[in-house]
Amino acid sequence: MFYDFDIPVRIVVGEGCSAQLAESLSTAGAKKVLCVYDKGVEDAGLVTPFIESMEASDIEVARFDKVVPDPPMEVVEVGTDVAEKEKPDAFVAVGGGSSIDTAKAVNANYTNRGTLKDHALNLNGMQILPYDNPLKPLYVLPTTAGTGSEVSPTAVVTDKELKLKLSIASRDHYPKVALIDPALMVGMPPPITASTGLDAFSHAVEGLMGGLAVLIPSPMRLSFAMTAIEQVLECLPVALEDGANMKARTGMAYSAFMSLLGAYGGLSFGHAVGHAIGEVCEIHNHGFLCSSVIPQTVEYLAEFIPDQISRLASLLKVNADGASVKQGLRGFYRKCGLPSLKEMGMDLSMAKEIAHHATLGQYYLIAPKKPSEEEFVQWLEEAYEGS
Ligand SMILES: [Fe+2]
Repeated sequence: MFYDFDIPVRIVVGEGCSAQLAESLSTAGAKKVLCVYDKGVEDAGLVTPFIESMEASDIEVARFDKVVPDPPMEVVEVGTDVAEKEKPDAFVAVGGGSSIDTAKAVNANYTNRGTLKDHALNLNGMQILPYDNPLKPLYVLPTTAGTGSEVSPTAVVTDKELKLKLSIASRDHYPKVALIDPALMVGMPPPITASTGLDAFSHAVEGLMGGLAVLIPSPMRLSFAMTAIEQVLECLPVALEDGANMKARTGMAYSAFMSLLGAYGGLSFGHAVGHAIGEVCEIHNHGFLCSSVIPQTVEYLAEFIPDQISRLASLLKVNADGASVKQGLRGFYRKCGLPSLKEMGMDLSMAKEIAHHATLGQYYLIAPKKPSEEEFVQWLEEAYEGS
């Protein structure tokens, strides 16, 4: 097995870079786009200027504004109906991970109707296979700094029937262009800044210990993850204190996609357990949920990554062992206002079901060492009262 890095996304980062959207679409010959976003982003005034600039460049714009957090398959189907009616030759997503993932899924379903769910059920993100028909080019403008969906081949879609978040992975999902403009992120309220920023942090930390990261260590993957961790530790508290601080917002914008690139070897129990809590208790707070058992995860897997533990310890200014890093991480989470699972509304009587769910996904399957369901219940009990 080899380290393999190949992403086809043009990444542009910097204050004001989103103004390139219309020109970029025109240069590529786009005549009609489907713009995908949610009402919150529109109400924040982040969508209309892009629609106006595209229309001023003679690009026809159809809209799909029904994006919701943890987008379910039903919303993807509604979006696909809109796409079939409007027949766009490109997609634009403005928003957080839910909007970008919805755009990816609608694009795939529009160009290859009926095969999306089969991909998800059969592959569950373990393989990256092409669709039969080419997808339309996707342009993304992230308004949060967290999911890293702007550089990922994955669309996460919720199957309500199965109570499961499906990672639908295909190289065809990659955006063509990601215009990562921190100016679009300055209006994010602190709780969203914290939850999305901690999602990025989870990707980077879990990326140090996900299955392939241990099997095929790579200094390239490691450099993405460690730089993202360093940036979040430095920039997230500043962005929470002063949302208009462009240096901190820029640092977080970089962290979001660098952490995802650092997590290409797979994630770990933060996301396994976070997804399971969300699925079982129907709580929609991805970033906070996935952060809940990161301290326990790091301590549990510390033996596989001694060098990374030393580097984390030095950044957190604690001793270089798993237990100390666990405490250091808890301190950082407290500083960022991570709520306890109790505050997030988790029902502790569901802990066993959550623990079982956590053992079903890919991140558990590829882990170098696997906690028992009883151990997961213990972690949940700890996080229930908070870090
Ligand atoms: Fe995540």
